[in-house]
Amino acid sequence: MKGSLLYEGKAKKVYYVDGKPEQLILSYKNDATAFNGKKKDQFAGKGRLNNLITARIFEHLHQQHIPSHFLKALNDTEQIVQKTTIVPLEVVVRNIAAGSLTRRLAIPEKTVLNPPLIELFYKNDELDDPLINDDHAKRLADVTEHDLDHIKILALKINEILKRLFRQADLELVDFKMEFGRLADGTIVLADEISPDTCRLWDVTTGEKMDKDVFREDIGDLIETYETILQRLEENKCVK
Ligand code: TMP
Ligand code: ASP
Repeated sequence: MKGSLLYEGKAKKVYYVDGKPEQLILSYKNDATAFNGKKKDQFAGKGRLNNLITARIFEHLHQQHIPSHFLKALNDTEQIVQKTTIVPLEVVVRNIAAGSLTRRLAIPEKTVLNPPLIELFYKNDELDDPLINDDHAKRLADVTEHDLDHIKILALKINEILKRLFRQADLELVDFKMEFGRLADGTIVLADEISPDTCRLWDVTTGEKMDKDVFREDIGDLIETYETILQRLEENKCVK
């Protein structure tokens, strides 16, 4: 069923599906990278955790009628998705100031951003994924004004749904990154992954960082942290 390798990224491998040209298999790796690949390590079990957490999140988004590439988890480390052409934008939604925003604009960490702030980054490793504006995006990412409006409306809806989902797990969704892709008919849907690698999550009770910042800043055990996220999401499975 799993066909040949199409692409290998920093966190996942992408395979064709034999006989199903409209689908792909994403295989989550144990590698962790940060600062555009300058910091690297491997953690046994990380691929499984990000695969299962992403699956849980995309299933929840599907129930809330958010269109995405996700079809289903195949096993612990692999999921099957609809093939899309990725729009080369990293769409970041921020509810609380942290990370690059605090460094770039000297906005103090923990400043509440209401309404949430949307930022676009051009997905290009050689350029270190630079921050861009809408006009740049239209030029570089082959999107129209209408596409951008659609992406931003979807991004804000996803943010509201996930804020609620994580709150039920005693986690504050500080910020997160999304990628969108086009199906064969041109429709834009949510793609890639949403996991503790691509979100900032702070424990509501203790304020502890519960995401890839534990690796970026060497402040905790990545596997233990991601395992806690999965467990808390599973415990709240029936809560709407
Ligand atoms: P930033 O504060 O470094 O700009 O990151 C904002 C959010 O986006 C944070 O939750 C981490 C996520 N992110 C990724 O998933 N991939 C990336 O390459 C970057 C830079 C950020
Ligand atoms: N994900 C990016 C990288 O692997 C950057 C980061 O998360 O800090 O380089």
